[in-house]
Amino acid sequence: MDYFPAFLKLQDRPCLVVGGGDVALRKARLLLSAGALISVVAPETSSAFAAFIEKNSLRLVLRKFETSDVNGNWLVVSATGDATVERAVYEASTAARVFCNGVDDKSNCSYITPAIVDRSPMVIAVSSGGTAPVLARKLRGKIEMLLPKDLGRLAHLASKWRTRVSERIDSVLGRRRFWEAVFDGPATSRVLDGHVDKAELEMARLLADFENSPSVEGEAWLVGAGPGDPELLTVGAVQIMQAADVILHDRLVSDEVLALARRDADRISVGKFPGSETNSQQAINQLLVRLVRSGKRVCRLKGGDPFIFARGGEELEALRAAGLRCKVVPGITAAAGCAAAAGIPLTHRDVSQSVVFVTAHGKDSVDQLDWPSLARDRQTLAFYMAVKRFPELMRNLISRGRPAATPIAIIERGTLPGQRVVRGRLGQLALLAEAQRIKAPAMLIVGDVAALGEHVMEDNSEPRQSPGTHSRAIYAKQRS
Ligand SMILES: C[S@@+](CC[C@H](N)C(=O)[O-])C[C@H]1O[C@@H](n2cnc3c(N)ncnc32)[C@H](O)[C@@H]1O
Repeated sequence: MDYFPAFLKLQDRPCLVVGGGDVALRKARLLLSAGALISVVAPETSSAFAAFIEKNSLRLVLRKFETSDVNGNWLVVSATGDATVERAVYEASTAARVFCNGVDDKSNCSYITPAIVDRSPMVIAVSSGGTAPVLARKLRGKIEMLLPKDLGRLAHLASKWRTRVSERIDSVLGRRRFWEAVFDGPATSRVLDGHVDKAELEMARLLADFENSPSVEGEAWLVGAGPGDPELLTVGAVQIMQAADVILHDRLVSDEVLALARRDADRISVGKFPGSETNSQQAINQLLVRLVRSGKRVCRLKGGDPFIFARGGEELEALRAAGLRCKVVPGITAAAGCAAAAGIPLTHRDVSQSVVFVTAHGKDSVDQLDWPSLARDRQTLAFYMAVKRFPELMRNLISRGRPAATPIAIIERGTLPGQRVVRGRLGQLALLAEAQRIKAPAMLIVGDVAALGEHVMEDNSEPRQSPGTHSRAIYAKQRS
């Protein structure tokens, strides 16, 4: 972030406005609405500003700005329209360590003001960090339309009940659950319909319920985070990430996805690096059970789908064996996400009637795989965790009868920034992957479908596909 977002308490605190025109007047109005004690310095003021100053008993100094004017203030706003004065105000403020906003010139700002949606005491601030103010204002307009006008009344009601709720529900977690039930339930609908008295009855009933059953039950969700692009998350996954107290996530869950989780949720990475014993599965199961038992709502976030090569089944069993509640939210598995990103249909009426998801990293070695069946024609194979096993996979498939000319595609970092799609033939798999230095995470797709989609993606893959990743040149070289 280029700017740190914060809400400032300005009630009864001296603030300085430099300038006497209409822009300065607008800024003074805003500061006054936050209760600031305003001084205005300007050689002259517009008649409207003069009337405002008189009506609100602001302090007015009718002369040019002097460096010492900034002293003793918490904030400075400068709107003189004179570049030399604006710079002088900024420099004097910076020297005195007072935050300064030079209107319309970022270089004279040590703070910037956001676009505001005001449902006081609920206030939503939108900023583009000064890069695209019109975009920020458009966004504010959209938020204005989304938010009920009585949101402020709801916040006032919550404030009125706050002490009573704290006295009657002991635990922090219990109180959090109570307020979530209020904001998700009928009390909120009543306020927004304008029936505050009925809302209060609902809250009294809910509070009594919480008092009578004080134990806070934990819960777990096994949630699929998809292959990486946050737009591929399900609505359910986002809702749970927003509601959970703890997010237990794998290494493969992208930062962009994690950014959608509740800000104050505890985040625990339980990633297992390929080949490492860090955070063994048993330890993860135990941690899950312990957190849920302590009353936490835990979102166990896994890359792709939680039940496809993700050991979600073992975690579900551990939770159930401990008598704990657990729900599952599926995710887009890497094979589906990567194939879509590369324009490859996993099945196709003409060339492939089935698709097999295969792990190249089984409990036992790849030798345990049913190679004769995998080598059969007219099916698509989607290999997970295969990067280190490409030579074995290639050898086994070809020796069991899959033609060396079978098309393949390797999708590295599918759906993520820096995605690469490397296409070729089964007979060149090992060399191709080595030449292109393929790294995990990568998905290998084997079958005639892999040859499809290439030109489709060339037409519309600009943002994601880096140049030079297609394998045609390498393939031609190897064939010759
Ligand atoms: C432990 S498995 C987890 C699979 C996951 N549960 C799913 O349904 O996609 C990890 C493997 O999934 C594949 N994978 C996951 N995300 C990927 C991505 N963004 N691009 C390519 N492959 C990915 C890779 O083969 C990686 O080694």
